Amino acid sequence: MKGIILAGGAGSRLYPLTSVVTKQLQPIYDKPMIYYPLSLLMMCGIRDILIITTEFDQPFFKNVLGDGSRFGVKIHFEVQPEPKGIAQAYLIGEKFLNGQDSLMVLGDNLFHGDFKPFRAAVKQQAEKAQGLRAQVFAYPVTDPERYGVVEFDKKTKEVKSIVEKPSVPRSNYAIPGLYLLDGSAPERVRNQKPSPRGELEITDLIQTYLDEGSLRVEVISRGMAWLDTGTPQSLLEANSYIAALEQRQGFKVACLEEIALRMNFIEVNDYEKVIDNTPNSPYRDYLKVILKEYQED
Ligand code: DAU
Repeated sequence: MKGIILAGGAGSRLYPLTSVVTKQLQPIYDKPMIYYPLSLLMMCGIRDILIITTEFDQPFFKNVLGDGSRFGVKIHFEVQPEPKGIAQAYLIGEKFLNGQDSLMVLGDNLFHGDFKPFRAAVKQQAEKAQGLRAQVFAYPVTDPERYGVVEFDKKTKEVKSIVEKPSVPRSNYAIPGLYLLDGSAPERVRNQKPSPRGELEITDLIQTYLDEGSLRVEVISRGMAWLDTGTPQSLLEANSYIAALEQRQGFKVACLEEIALRMNFIEVNDYEKVIDNTPNSPYRDYLKVILKEYQED
């Protein structure tokens, strides 16, 4: 199973913030935004990861994450020359995917909670249970018209339709930016036509799986937080959410070094080296506390 983070786009709704740095590197409390989607992939056990960015921004991402080795993962980079749609990621990533299944997360989507449903979905996808080829999630929101929306049959609970940003949504279930698709995704996108707004729509790609009956849509329980960070208001809310959690619990959300250690992606001595190479900071102090705790466990 491979991982993709799509982190291109203009981020124009965040201008002039995005004239300083691209959206997915903006701060979410104490870390760059990209840490959060990357942490999700890592916690799903995925270690081979492609990050797709604009050409201009790629060096900044490389500067922040390097090749991923300090987190025990391998990070590859590709450029999306122009934002031609989310589904285009599968064409850009075709060589990297090499026919394998993938979990793609949008670089501005932030999840927090128990990731068990995501881990279980990854496992099921790998086992190719009952002709399953694709899995997406559904999450209740108050503003479904901003998202891809899934409609369920009231009685059978089967998926009836998937529509991108409908003006009159048929349900309040949005599809978060997290897609588990099989190795045929690039081929399907090649046969796809751009939408009237000129994009290769992710919802059109998902529709191909729905049409052949190989799609599973799982409703995420409201115990999970899904935040999007595309507007100044939602960015502020995501910052406040993470700040409140971290201050209350004393644990960091999406601390990649900690996840690498706990997931056994790196050994204790690698982790100690990472601490040595981390600038003297509250973040480094936290890494040390985690090491002590880990060794005492
Ligand atoms: O957040 C979940 C939603 O994401 C889904 O419910 C929708 O079905 C999906 O289309 C998408 O909607 P958005 O309105 O959030 O799409 P947006 O164009 O803002 O792109 C989402 C992220 O993906 C954004 O951070 C930029 C990046 N992106 C987008 C496009 C279209 C790229 O890197 N390249 C692209 O070509």
